[in-house]
Amino acid sequence: MALSRRNLISISAAALAAGALAACSDERGGDTADPAPADGTTGAAPADGETTPTGGEAGGLIGIAMPTKSLERWNRDGAHLEGLLKEMGYETSLQYADNKQDQQNNQIQNMINDGAKVVVIASIDGTAMGPILQTAADAGVKVFAYDRLINGTENVDYYATFDNYKVGQLQGQYILDHMDDYKNDDGSINLEPFAGSPDDNNVRYFFGGAWDLLGPEVEKGTFTVPSGKAPADSDGWASIGIQGWASSGAQSEMENRINSFYGDGKKVNIVLSPNDSLALGIQQALEGAGYTPGEDWPLLTGQDADLANVQAMVQGKQTMDVWKDTRMLGEQVAKMVDQLVKGEEVETNDTETYDNGVKVVPSFLIDPVVVTMDNIEEQLVESGFYTAEDIGL
Ligand code: GAL
Repeated sequence: MALSRRNLISISAAALAAGALAACSDERGGDTADPAPADGTTGAAPADGETTPTGGEAGGLIGIAMPTKSLERWNRDGAHLEGLLKEMGYETSLQYADNKQDQQNNQIQNMINDGAKVVVIASIDGTAMGPILQTAADAGVKVFAYDRLINGTENVDYYATFDNYKVGQLQGQYILDHMDDYKNDDGSINLEPFAGSPDDNNVRYFFGGAWDLLGPEVEKGTFTVPSGKAPADSDGWASIGIQGWASSGAQSEMENRINSFYGDGKKVNIVLSPNDSLALGIQQALEGAGYTPGEDWPLLTGQDADLANVQAMVQGKQTMDVWKDTRMLGEQVAKMVDQLVKGEEVETNDTETYDNGVKVVPSFLIDPVVVTMDNIEEQLVESGFYTAEDIGL
């Protein structure tokens, strides 16, 4: 049976992760971890030889390790999951790590020391966690990878995320479905692709889902890529990755491409942006270069339905977004954590896709949704995710 593209991405990710495992170190940075958890959890670490029980009654400490406060979605994710777990009777330790894996590893160590039964981790660099997750396993602490798979270690018990490959497919398919509206007079279509942070395991899936659709069209000449930044295949995403998903990085990359390859009236027609923080930087570069919504503004994709980008969509500066209702992810993870702590069967719906280089991590995938001006009210307002005034409707 031919391996699906999605599975091929998993295999290459696994191989990469295995290599990284050999190289990864767990340098403990200075103690820059956030202060002790606000809820005053100070449970003593389990006595030597004791392991943290997971099985039996609910309650106890759950660690929540989020990557950064600087990207909007993680603030939503952390607050929502914390609230759900508290409602279920758990204590929580919610920490943010400034996009520094060493800092996050320190914070996880503190959670283990405080007697956490489970740690839920949205990692920064999922290949640099082997030692800290061995420490967790030795202490009997269970590990959930949240949204981003953690690679190169057997000590990841579950993974919950949105279907990352489908996120990219939705972006790529939207471009194919609407590209004719962005053709130049001579029939050409100038496409500029971007990819996310090279240390984020999700990026290969986002880019793979999109480029499996768009790459063959570039080869056929449907699209031209004036900057030349068109990876030869879906595995080439790192060459166009923007470190840390930084809006500023995307803005300067887009400015460089416009200044270097779009003289004498040539226009950018379509931009593949893998998420909203990059799309925001790209919007700023386009505005700075004199592009005007409703006139020559390119088709611009995104992901996460961040507030500023949804507002930009209303203003005609972003064409589509891939919405991942992070409330659903939080509810699913809270349910799975509770099942695990109580020793019940943990609900998963994918035990094939996510090979982390050591094992296939049992996962739960949630479907992402395309949002455009055609369904923005139904999807984002009627669901209560935003209000109409939030987004400028
Ligand atoms: C990814 C995440 C996306 C994207 C990015 C920046 O791992 O799945 O939602 O926004 O990180 O946070």
